[in-house]
Amino acid sequence: MNAQAQTAPILSARGLRHSFGSTEALRGIDVDIHPGEVLAVMGPSGSGKSTLLHCLAGVITPDAGSVTYQPGPAVGQSVTISSLNEAGRSRLRLTEFGFVFQFGQLLPELSALDNVTIPLLLNGTRRKDALQRSAELLDRLGLQDNGTKRPSELSGGQAQRVAVARALATAPKILFADEPTGSLDSLAAENVLTQMLQLVREAGTTLVMITHDPRTAAYADREILVRDGAVAAGYQVAP
Ligand SMILES: Nc1ncnc2c1ncn2[C@@H]1O[C@H](COP(=O)(O)OP(=O)(O)OP(=O)(O)O)[C@@H](O)[C@H]1O
Ligand SMILES: [Mg+2]
Repeated sequence: MNAQAQTAPILSARGLRHSFGSTEALRGIDVDIHPGEVLAVMGPSGSGKSTLLHCLAGVITPDAGSVTYQPGPAVGQSVTISSLNEAGRSRLRLTEFGFVFQFGQLLPELSALDNVTIPLLLNGTRRKDALQRSAELLDRLGLQDNGTKRPSELSGGQAQRVAVARALATAPKILFADEPTGSLDSLAAENVLTQMLQLVREAGTTLVMITHDPRTAAYADREILVRDGAVAAGYQVAP
C-alpha cells in the first residue's frame, strides 16, 4: 500500500451519473483524490472528462451520485458538494478551488496583473495585498515584465501562465485544469506545465488535470482513463 492510499481523500465521488438530454456523459463514476496528489485524467474526446471535472468541482450538479470534499482531518469538516445549491457551490469554488482551462479565459480589457488580482478582490482581500500577492506570483512564473500587458499582447504560453497565476492566487486546496496546455506548442506547454507543477508541489495543492497528451500525464502521480462515461477498470497507475 502506498502512502497516498492511507490518507483520507480530499475529494471522493461515488456513483456519478450525468446526462445532457439523451447523451449519457457519466455512467457511474467512483473516484478518490488524495490530498497533494497530481492526478491526470485521460480519455478520448467526448468520453466525459470535462463533465467529470465539472461535477467534482461543483460547477454542475450530477443527476445522481455524490461528491464529498474533505479539506482537512477534522471531523465535521466535510462538505457534500453535490447537495449544495448554486450559491453554496459558487462560494466553495471561490474559496477552495482554482481553475485553468485550455484557453486562459482572461478578461481582455484588464492587464495581466489585474486579471490575477480579481479572485483575491472577490475573496475580500485588500487591494494592496492582492496586488502584492499577484505581482509575486507573476514573478514566480517568469512574467515580471508583463504585468501591465493585456492578454492580446501576450504569447499563448505567457497568457496560460497568467491563467495559472490567477488560479493559484487564492491558494486553492484543489486546482482543476482542463487541457491547460492543449492550445500550446510542445515547448511552451512544457514550460507552463513545469512551472505550474512547481508551484502546486510547493504549496501542497491537489491537482486534477485533464490531458490528451501522455507526456503531460507523465508528470502526474497517477492517471485514470475515462471511457464512455466510466473509469476504465484496472487503469490506475500508481506513483
Ligand atoms: N452542455 C452540453 N450539452 C449537451 N451535451 C453535452 C454538453 N456537455 C457535454 N456534452 C456531451 O457529453 C459527452 C461528454 O462530454 P465532455 O465534454 O465531458 O467530454 P470530454 O471527454 O471532455 O471531451 P473532449 O476531450 O473533447 O473535451 C459528449 O457526448 C458531449 O457531447
Ligand atoms: Mg473536455
